[in-house]
Amino acid sequence: MELSEGHAKELAKQAARKRVLKRECLQILGGIDRIVFEAGCGHGHWLTAYAEGHPEQTCLGIDLIAHRVRKGQEKCAKRNLPNLHFLKAELGEFLEVLPPEIRFDLTVLLFPDPWPKARHHRRRMVQMELLEALASRTDTGGSFCFRSDDRPYYDWTMELLEAHPDWVIDSAAEWPHEMETYFQSLMEQYYSVVARRR
Ligand SMILES: C[S@@+](CC[C@H](N)C(=O)[O-])C[C@H]1O[C@@H](n2cnc3c(N)ncnc32)[C@H](O)[C@@H]1O
Repeated sequence: MELSEGHAKELAKQAARKRVLKRECLQILGGIDRIVFEAGCGHGHWLTAYAEGHPEQTCLGIDLIAHRVRKGQEKCAKRNLPNLHFLKAELGEFLEVLPPEIRFDLTVLLFPDPWPKARHHRRRMVQMELLEALASRTDTGGSFCFRSDDRPYYDWTMELLEAHPDWVIDSAAEWPHEMETYFQSLMEQYYSVVARRR
């Protein structure tokens, strides 16, 4: 099937974006083989606080929105945290280009956009494919932490985790680090889950 001109242009833009992202990943993570990863990190409040308390771990946050990423990078420079990095990236593209040898000790997803309408559920970041991709980069005992104010999205995540053979919900686990994110500060109630890689 022939591609429309628009589609072909979009694919070329995506390929160029991924080439740049791959280069940035290599620059930031050269010589590093384990990270703490936050997807949709917003202004980077949570990861900055975590990185400050865990200087021995390399922390990387990504977000789609450039000015949010810049806020994170400013925090990083102000506090002089060499173990903390922020990148503007889309989650799927990031996981595609990240060097395969990089392992995730911990993945965090805080207050992701809930996409409440059924026809938009496929836009949610948490999908079976994401759990699969994270499982393939996480060693036994590594964790995935999810927090949302949206009960249906939390239930969706629990169902996918329960159905996935490589993740087990750890109800006794402590939250890795309590720090109110911008979105958390707007919410009265929220739901959290910690899952471990089998
Ligand atoms: C509701 S905000 C929460 C931000 C932050 N985690 C917090 O708690 O304050 C969701 C964030 O996810 C980012 N986001 C949404 N889809 C994304 C994707 N596919 N890849 C990377 N970031 C994404 C958005 O740009 C936004 O900053």
